[in-house]
Amino acid sequence: MEKMSVARARKPDAFGREVVIEGWVRTRRDSKAGFSFIEVNDGSCLGNLQVIADKQLANYDDEIKLLSVGSSVRVTGQVTKSPAKGQATELRATRVELVGHCDAEAYPLQKKRHSFEFLRTIAHLRPRTNTFGAVARVRNAISRSIHNFFQQEDFLYIHTPVITASDCEGAGELFRITTLDLERLAAGSEKPDYDQDFFGRAAYLTVSGQLEAEILATSLGKVYTFGPTFRAENSNTSRHLAEFWMVEPEMAFFDLDDNMALAERFIKHIVGQALDQCDEDMQFFNARIDRTLIETLSRVVESQFERLSYSEAVELLKTSDETFEFPVEWGQDLQSEHERYLVEKKLKRPVILYDYPASIKPFYMRVNDDGRTVRAMDVLLPRVGEMIGGSQREERHDVVLDRMIQQGLNPDDYWWYLELRRYGTVPHSGFGLGLERTVQFVTGMANIRDVIPFPRTPANADF
Ligand code: 4AD
Ligand code: MG
Repeated sequence: MEKMSVARARKPDAFGREVVIEGWVRTRRDSKAGFSFIEVNDGSCLGNLQVIADKQLANYDDEIKLLSVGSSVRVTGQVTKSPAKGQATELRATRVELVGHCDAEAYPLQKKRHSFEFLRTIAHLRPRTNTFGAVARVRNAISRSIHNFFQQEDFLYIHTPVITASDCEGAGELFRITTLDLERLAAGSEKPDYDQDFFGRAAYLTVSGQLEAEILATSLGKVYTFGPTFRAENSNTSRHLAEFWMVEPEMAFFDLDDNMALAERFIKHIVGQALDQCDEDMQFFNARIDRTLIETLSRVVESQFERLSYSEAVELLKTSDETFEFPVEWGQDLQSEHERYLVEKKLKRPVILYDYPASIKPFYMRVNDDGRTVRAMDVLLPRVGEMIGGSQREERHDVVLDRMIQQGLNPDDYWWYLELRRYGTVPHSGFGLGLERTVQFVTGMANIRDVIPFPRTPANADF
């Protein structure tokens, strides 16, 4: 007998097929006419498959009629046309097996709506809810469209290390990794000697794969890396995680304009694919999470992203009538209230801000002729704010060396990065897109902790 997913069994082309489906009971309802309706979900789609179990079945009274929410079942039967509204098919059971019993009284997932805060405390069960199933499927579709986009554009998928010795962003938000015996060191008030550590030097979890991606771009052309990224910043916001996934393309012979054009096409591709491929889940988010979601996303796909220099943005903000909590001063980083004003109120479309003050950006960004700004870019979207950060890279050896020294980095640690600027240097550019912020944007979910199955945030690494 053929195993079939609920998603496939719900489609009309499954009519007449004899199949086995396996999943978890969402509800059971008994009809006086002598049969039961069992709604089964297996995570393959939002909708359930309605199973019709007749009282003639051998285990009808002692098992089927006791089936409770959360129990796992294996059902054999024929897919038939359903007379009910909202579903094309149903399954006429010839056999219903209880695989794993679930005590309905104790089961934490009851039929009522639970708060997202509560569901975070049961991360082992929340994927069984409609919302978290839909998030997981949309996250999958986004990951697939990321690969499709870069593969179609002839990029090479490369893998950059998770363990690194350098601080790419220079912000010091690194998680240190060590095999030194910290308790013994603390007991003897000894200073750790990283020469004696596993790698013979201090080592960290990466904050970005960019520096290594630059190595591969300056030999292979167009590359992208996509993996977990770690930041020990103590920010408890709805947009920050200590462990998140970032996709980072890096392209030789690309200037900042090329970089911005790629970023814009990339975001439109991802959003367009999600709307196309995840219709049922997207309708759900639109109905339950944000009633303007599909409209907002469709507008992004059709819009022309605004390009605005940081200095122009500061002027717009300073001359606006809006009152901000934080003042706007040239040379200061923009706060999310400023970014949201520009995107949501002033320009009403995605905005690419570029040419930021050199003093607030990392050493690797290309210095403009004015000497005080660098070729940085941030792509800002409604609600989530910054989804992409990137730049044209400084390809001039002496300039990048100066910038390292200014920022207190030891150039000896970056000898290989400097050599790339001595041996056939090229203009090049790249950016990083945060996967979770993208999933937030596409699903409308308000908190980043709800778009990754097992969020890592300050004081929380459960599950
Ligand atoms: O702007 P960021 O820090 O840029 C870089 O790391 C560059 N090295 C990327 C590159 O040019 N290759 O981070 C890029 C994106 C942000 O725009 C945001 O979407 C996401 O990564 N991000 C986070 N997402 C969740 N939690 C955090 N703590 C994040 N920090 C950055
Ligand atoms: Mg950034």
